[in-house]
Amino acid sequence: MRVFHLSAECYPVAKVGGLADVVGALPKYQNQAGHQAAVVMPYYDRKFVQENEFDTVFVSSTLLGTRRLFFEILKEKTDKLGFELYLVKIPGLIDRTEIYSYPDETEQFIAFQIAFLDWISYSQQSPDLIHCHDHHSGLVPFLLQHSRLYTRLAATPTVFTIHNGQYHGAFGWDKLSYLPEIDLSRTGLLDWAGAINPLACAVKCCWRYTTVSPTYLEELTINSNGLEFLFYLEKGKGTGILNGIDTAVWNPKTDPMLPAKFTINTFPKGKQANKEVLCTRFNLSTDKPLIAFIGRLVVEKGADLIATAMEESFNEHPGQFNFLVLGAGDKETEIELLQLRDFYSEQCNVFIGYDEALAHTIYAGADFLLMPSRVEPCGLNQLYSLRYGTLPMVRNTGGLHDTVIDFGDEGGYGIRYNHASVEDICMAVTRAITLYNNDKHFQALRKVIMALDFSWDRSAKEYITLYESLNPTI
Ligand code: ADP
Ligand code: GLC
Repeated sequence: MRVFHLSAECYPVAKVGGLADVVGALPKYQNQAGHQAAVVMPYYDRKFVQENEFDTVFVSSTLLGTRRLFFEILKEKTDKLGFELYLVKIPGLIDRTEIYSYPDETEQFIAFQIAFLDWISYSQQSPDLIHCHDHHSGLVPFLLQHSRLYTRLAATPTVFTIHNGQYHGAFGWDKLSYLPEIDLSRTGLLDWAGAINPLACAVKCCWRYTTVSPTYLEELTINSNGLEFLFYLEKGKGTGILNGIDTAVWNPKTDPMLPAKFTINTFPKGKQANKEVLCTRFNLSTDKPLIAFIGRLVVEKGADLIATAMEESFNEHPGQFNFLVLGAGDKETEIELLQLRDFYSEQCNVFIGYDEALAHTIYAGADFLLMPSRVEPCGLNQLYSLRYGTLPMVRNTGGLHDTVIDFGDEGGYGIRYNHASVEDICMAVTRAITLYNNDKHFQALRKVIMALDFSWDRSAKEYITLYESLNPTI
């Protein structure tokens, strides 16, 4: 099957979070299974693009309202990522360094989608399916069916994956003219609550939508930033498919980013060696349990709760555990965490920023990984930490619910709590310290989690089964 994945992120080309990891892995596993999956994304002026060679495979121009945009489609020359990678470059609009947060982001993502459709339409390509990820490509299913420019492709099945239902990419009706010629009798499909809402439009117009865990499919009907009723109505079109992890990248035996590599047989020594590197760098002692947090410092992740919860835990268990943060995000939370570090400098350190290699070392060297998420559609951090022998401490929500069983329950191996609250985090910290001090139990659980299989093989097949149900001629 020939499939195009459309996404704003793809590891290692451009990454902000888990969307990149998924789009950098799923197509690779689909290709290994004999399909032809390619990724199409906006051009970013970043390291991967600067260091690799590309061919220009298509040049054209298109209209965004009254503004004529010249665009190019670039293809990475070697397919070294395990899939064909195409970049949409539009000088002056899609050729910048950052992935998000420009004031003309709406224009950027509309132009990205139009350029993609123009390209496959005018170059007479006929993919078997188009797979859109998140709201950045959410208008494609609508445009395929309701713009006469793309009638040749109108029968192409579309799958839309929701990685994050909190962000909709909504914009005002005053920007309707940015869309190419559409059937104006169908504009209701673009609308939600008086705005053009690409996420809502995708859910209405795609052939099938998926969420990145089964539990998140249910949760969207209760909490999706205003789209709850839509998800309730459209639920028949939805399927929850749990993300996998790219075990070629995330393998403690071969991971080039780790100071010390290890396997399920050598983990006690290997993890300790990584912990020593971390503790030396961050001025922490190696003989205490090390709890870590990695991630975007946003309300969704419960990051605003962490400083208070840790302060209470440091007071409750003086000198009994260490805490390390790697993340960036809301300024207020960053400041709170830096103040926590200053106040508890012997037990706590905080790295504000993005550092892929450090993240790998923390998954390998920490003892516990804290994830007090309010919303977690899937979560990859807990899957990486499981594979690297670090026990996750997760709130019971979304993909965290689907992947972590509390060690107090049958077959359990992690720490799970029900509320994104200071109290529940403190209780989890107490349980972590107690568990750590029971070395036999702790080491046995580490062995269990390292053997769990969350690889892409199973999930990639589930996507293919879904595709085939939509395009049985293949
Ligand atoms: P989300 O996509 O919501 O941020 P996920 O758990 O799906 O959450 O994925 C987060 C990904 O981003 C993981 O690969 C994680 O290691 C990585 N990550 C998050 N913050 C940082 C950071 N500050 N430095 C390095 N990697 C990070
Ligand atoms: C989103 C979600 C996260 C998920 C990731 C990849 O960023 O917040 O939970 O793991 O997408 O699907």
